[in-house]
Amino acid sequence: MPAAQIPDTLRAQFTKSHIALSLATAQDDMPLCLVNEGFTTLCGYDQDQVQGRNCRFLQTPQTPAEQVTAIRDFLHDGDAHDGRFPVLNRTRDGRDFMNLVFLSKLRRASGETVFVLASQFDLNRARRNGRQAEHDASLARNVNDVRRAAEQLGLIMADSAELIARSITTLARITIRDE
Ligand SMILES: Cc1cc2nc3c(=O)[nH]c(=O)nc-3n(C[C@H](O)[C@H](O)[C@H](O)COP(=O)(O)O)c2cc1C
Repeated sequence: MPAAQIPDTLRAQFTKSHIALSLATAQDDMPLCLVNEGFTTLCGYDQDQVQGRNCRFLQTPQTPAEQVTAIRDFLHDGDAHDGRFPVLNRTRDGRDFMNLVFLSKLRRASGETVFVLASQFDLNRARRNGRQAEHDASLARNVNDVRRAAEQLGLIMADSAELIARSITTLARITIRDE
């Protein structure tokens, strides 16, 4: 879907958010159709460089296959609506980081997924500055705002508050190599 067809309400949520957000259309190879400044700042790519591409371009040859499989399985599982996935990624300037990607499907009442919302989060940086809890509170607020905006468009999103709250335990289990 060209950028021009993204509903204004979703675009407004993306613009005002301070965390990394991205949206892909659920068709074809799930190309990115909207990213915000938090995303371009985190990854180092401009909007023009990412629009229309599948977000796997952030992965590296060293990214463990099982990390990618977990995301692929989630996206293809009709019963799974939201999830959080650690995946080794690389910024445009070549810095590797453990990205904790939040994903949530925006569905029609029929069950058909129209968009997938994502929020990227640099676990290495968060561990260094101790701001994981603060980030998660912000993620929960932002996801809820997008959920309300989506509702007005007739699209359904899972309530991810519990998943995000549980993630502190998930985070504790993920071993990462600090820079
Ligand atoms: C909206 C959206 C955002 C995504 N963000 C990331 C990301 O930041 N990093 C990443 O490694 N994969 C990300 N993915 C996952 C990949 O795009 C892809 O789905 C994954 O690599 C599994 O599919 P594949 O086996 O076809 O590559 C995202 C997917 C979607 C739909």
